[in-house]
Amino acid sequence: MHRSLLLLAIFFLRTHDASVDFTRQPPRPLVNTYHDGPESHPQQVHVSLVGNKYMKVSWVTDEHNVPSVVDFGKVSGKYDSLATGETTSYSYFLYSSGKIHHVTIGPLDPATTYYYRCGGTGPEFNFRTPPEKFPIEFVVVGDLGQTEWTSSTLDHINASNYDVLLLPGDLSYADTHQPLWDSFGRLVGPYASQRPWMVTEGNHEQEIFPIIYPKGFKAYNARWPMPHEESGSKSNLYYSFDVAGTHIIMLGSYTDFGVDSDQYKWLANDLEKVDRLLTPWLIVLLHAPWYNSNAAHQGEGESMRLAMEQVLYDSRVDMVFAGHVHAYERFTRVFNNNATPCGPIYVTIGDGGNREGLAMIYKEPSPSISLFREASFGHGRLRIMNETHARWSWHRNNDSASVVADEVWFESLRSSPSCGQNIQGHDEL
Ligand SMILES: [Fe+2]
Repeated sequence: MHRSLLLLAIFFLRTHDASVDFTRQPPRPLVNTYHDGPESHPQQVHVSLVGNKYMKVSWVTDEHNVPSVVDFGKVSGKYDSLATGETTSYSYFLYSSGKIHHVTIGPLDPATTYYYRCGGTGPEFNFRTPPEKFPIEFVVVGDLGQTEWTSSTLDHINASNYDVLLLPGDLSYADTHQPLWDSFGRLVGPYASQRPWMVTEGNHEQEIFPIIYPKGFKAYNARWPMPHEESGSKSNLYYSFDVAGTHIIMLGSYTDFGVDSDQYKWLANDLEKVDRLLTPWLIVLLHAPWYNSNAAHQGEGESMRLAMEQVLYDSRVDMVFAGHVHAYERFTRVFNNNATPCGPIYVTIGDGGNREGLAMIYKEPSPSISLFREASFGHGRLRIMNETHARWSWHRNNDSASVVADEVWFESLRSSPSCGQNIQGHDEL
């Protein structure tokens, strides 16, 4: 065999243990987005959940005199409600942001389309609120970035319906180059203005600069405020929320998490308050994975795992999603590195499409707790059917089509006779 062909064959076999009929995607270039409307018109529009019946509308204007108001209603062009919010802006070295608006609107009806206008001017947008009850479908996608692969992932996400998007960190990959936060906002705006996007931070959100910006997260906190106060958290870097019978906890991998930290105390208190009768499903997202058989980022989530795994296990968390590793991996139910019927299912879904490319080398042999692993771009979907059953699927970006490459049905731990005992709400089953 010709030497280059032999090398190609070895490369293919080493990096392609999950499927044999698919050629892995190379990185693709950044997508440039521009705002070509008037300076008063909204750009980078996105919405997020605030409590049970409210939604926060966020957007940016170049013009600083635009009021932070949202007109909204259930009929296109007819806005019978008006809400006023607040604004912020920030500077980062020589960069000054536009005016960043955040307006909370509601109360809103569940599973209803609302039409809205930002700042009293510009185009109309619309979103649909999540359902009040099951079924509900979450899209889960991490390490999104803003490349042509990101565009492909977003197209595939948008091609079939979903209710809420969950992003376990690494949004724009601006990495201190602030205009990339604006271009990211414009790229995701057509999608994030239509469904709530709930995010937590990754390492690329830190943007720490010694002495000048020692605490970091300046752009992230200004642009993507999440409902942390509503869940008793003092920090935008970790919070929780309920939606349609699911309690979702967004943890922060890049703020203190030790047993004496504010985050740990908040987490323990938050878990204590979960009523599995009201929210039978318990889901956690964080950035740096606790379980990972990829060669990339080995051990980076280990200290957080040692601090927090026990309390998640004791609370019978159903699933833990992570990003950071640019690949897909699904584990069985795990606690303390061993398969166990009462532990969470761990999934790494850091393959949204970022500019750094894929993490293609895996540790060999594959650990027995790892059930599926593949370095390809894509997104995941968690469809919770009812109080007891859910379907998880991973949708690989295969050229122009989205291919379901991994799929599993599973039961909630709360409904498990052996695992669900001693958690609040179990006795009422
Ligand atoms: Fe990361």
